[in-house]
Amino acid sequence: MADRENILVTGGGSGIGRAVAIRMGKQMTVIVADLNEDGANETVAEIEKAGGAAYAIKTDVSDSASVRDMKDFIAKDIGPVSKAFIGAGIFIRGVVGQIPEEDWDRMIDIHVKGTLLCAQAALPDMVAAGRGAIVTMSSDFAVMAVPGAAAYMAAKSAIYSLTKVIALEFAPNIRANALGPGPIDTPILKSNRTPEEYEKALGTLAEGLPIGRLGQSEEVAAVADFLLSDRASYMTGQIVHPNGGQLMW
Ligand SMILES: NC(=O)c1ccc[n+]([C@@H]2O[C@H](COP(=O)([O-])OP(=O)(O)OC[C@H]3O[C@@H](n4cnc5c(N)ncnc54)[C@H](O)[C@@H]3O)[C@@H](O)[C@H]2O)c1
Repeated sequence: MADRENILVTGGGSGIGRAVAIRMGKQMTVIVADLNEDGANETVAEIEKAGGAAYAIKTDVSDSASVRDMKDFIAKDIGPVSKAFIGAGIFIRGVVGQIPEEDWDRMIDIHVKGTLLCAQAALPDMVAAGRGAIVTMSSDFAVMAVPGAAAYMAAKSAIYSLTKVIALEFAPNIRANALGPGPIDTPILKSNRTPEEYEKALGTLAEGLPIGRLGQSEEVAAVADFLLSDRASYMTGQIVHPNGGQLMW
């Protein structure tokens, strides 16, 4: 394990984070941090089955004490991280006139504060090593407008902004880029939808995409892998869109 790099993957218990953890587990030791401990353990089991090394840690990214515990666990039991994929997220629908304050706070806390806290947990190791790379999870929705998604969009715009400032403040040795996926078929798409609404949404979402289908988590993980690798050595402060063409600049 001594020569292997360590990567922190938040939200690694499901969907895109799980796909990133499994892909990176072929190259590095993975710390799978997720509020869903069972999901994190399942991801670890998959990585181990493929011959990799991984550790699950139950973490609430919106809670500074929990993130501190995660950081202590990494420092004590694993060693410094050189890469971080900061991906935990939720979706709560709500139109502007009626978003309950607690929904707004939860969305901002998990996405924006959570990204900041996890970046703060990972960056000191990278600074000490003089190298590192971070990928955050924004969304196409950071730069679009869709009714009923105000809190999510505000949060994803903030993650994009925060990522750019991390890129500036930690250049040149540490790079930070945001991912801005379009619709990816993960459990989050089932949030706030009945099974019938989910089935209908799959069709509607696919119809609006030039590529004509939803993305798969592995297709996002491939881009994350690239951004975390030295192949992306001249990229920092960018938002990169594996989005089936949903948004074109
Ligand atoms: N699926 C999409 O269409 C899509 C598109 C763009 C961006 N994203 C973003 O990608 C990221 C991953 O989403 P996904 O689609 O894989 O969804 P998912 O629901 O499959 O995974 C999200 C993971 O985050 C974890 N999580 C939620 N709150 C947490 C907290 N407070 N602390 C720690 N972990 C927490 C969940 O337990 C879950 O394992 C999210 O940030 C999401 O907003 C998703």
